[in-house]
Parts: sequence; structure tokens; C-alpha cells
Amino acid sequence: MTTASQAYGEPWYWDDRYSNEPGPFDWYQKYQSLAPIINHYDPRNHRILVVGCGNSAFSEGMVDDGYRDVVNVDISSVVVESMQNKYKDRSELKYMKMDVRDMSAFESESFGAVIDKGTLDSILVMWGESRQNANLMLEEVWRVLKDKGVYILVTYGAPLYRLRLLRESSAWTIKLHVIEKLASDEKPDGPVWELTKPVPLNDDGSSVEEALGKNPDVHYIYICTKDNSMKSSA
Ligand SMILES: C[S@@+](CC[C@H](N)C(=O)[O-])C[C@H]1O[C@@H](n2cnc3c(N)ncnc32)[C@H](O)[C@@H]1O
Repeated sequence: MTTASQAYGEPWYWDDRYSNEPGPFDWYQKYQSLAPIINHYDPRNHRILVVGCGNSAFSEGMVDDGYRDVVNVDISSVVVESMQNKYKDRSELKYMKMDVRDMSAFESESFGAVIDKGTLDSILVMWGESRQNANLMLEEVWRVLKDKGVYILVTYGAPLYRLRLLRESSAWTIKLHVIEKLASDEKPDGPVWELTKPVPLNDDGSSVEEALGKNPDVHYIYICTKDNSMKSSA
């Protein structure tokens, strides 16, 4: 039997979901919460690719914040058609149906940043060939990024579950940030960690637990920089 989460990489699952829940809905975090980190690593003049965009308002938030060229892809034709229609008058936003495992419609080194909020996670929970699918996706992300471009991965996956996958796929230079799952002004002690300050990251990620404690209630933001000189020396 296939459970709902095991179907997260399947187009039929998402077509069905988006037909019934037109949204908008943002997984994990909204643009406004993540803007300080996006602005820090991703200049507004970059051409941006948002992978697995769904019906999230994230890209609209980016454009409202001054980004000029935000290309969005998703495997669900239902959501892509709906977003194309919704944003037909916003030339800064483009929506295309595409599988992130094969983005051959895009030239190599054609984006300054790739943003992923929940899409690698969806592919990883698929039953069967999730690891191979994740590797195909990460290879494509590396290919379409310019040298020194950044892959910004927003995920629930702690370093124990994401670092090795990222490091094995390509020679990324990786920084880690965290944001509380439910950011709230009412918390008396403030955030567990300042958003724009990288969390110390050693080889196996154990330094993160030392800094934040066990099982912190956060989403992880991996800033993976493509460095062609590292790839050739690896
Ligand atoms: C968890 S949702 C995240 C949606 C959006 N990024 C957000 O933050 O709200 C995952 C999205 O990835 C899309 N997706 C899953 N597998 C995909 C694939 N192989 N290629 C492109 N998109 C995919 C789904 O259709 C869905 O919209």
C-alpha cells in the first residue's frame, strides 16, 4: 500500500491535491520570514529558479521585494496552469511544467540561485528509488547553476539526514542556518538561533546539536554554493 507521503514525488498525487486545494499555501515558511536570508545570499539582479513551486506565494513575495526574474517549475500540470493564469500580468514570474530530475530545457549555468522549499524532501519520502531520484535532482540543480551560484534548500531534514546526500552529490560549499518552525513574537526568550548567523557545521553535523541542543524545533536552511574549482579538484 502507498501512503500519502510516499506519493509526494508522484505527479498524480500533486495534481489531485492541487485540484482540491487551489491555495495559496506555503510549506514550512513564508517568504517574509525567510527574506533576510534570501536577500543575504541572493542578489536581486540574479535570475532565480524555484524548484517544485506548488501554489506557494513565495515567488510573488520575491518579486514584490524587488527580484526581477523568477522562473518556477513543478511536476504538476494542474498547479502550473493555475499559476500561469494567476500571474499572467506579472512578467517577472514564469511558470513551467518540468520534472526537476530532468531540466534539460534549461541551459547549463543559467541561474544565479535555485530555491527549494520542500521539494527534495518530497522526493526523499518516496518509496523505492528516492535516493537515486534525489541524486538526479541535485545533479540537475548543480548543472543549471552558474559558478558561485547558490542552492538554497529549506527542509525539515537535520544535518544527519541531509549533509551526506548533499556532499555526495557534488562538491558544494555548505553553510547552515535555522529558523524556528513557528516563529512567534510572543516567545519570551526570542529565537533559538539568529536567522542570519550561520550555525557551526563540522563534517558530520554533530556541532549543530552542540549549538542548538537535541531535536530543536527548527527548519534547516542549507546554503550550498557551487564552486567549479572544488569540483575539478575533488
Ligand atoms: C512539499 S511541496 C512544496 C511546494 C512549495 N515549494 C512550497 O514551499 O509551498 C513539493 C512540491 O514539489 C513538487 N514536485 C514533487 N516532485 C517533483 C519533481 N520531480 N519535479 C518537479 N516538482 C516536483 C510537487 O508538485 C509540489 O508542488
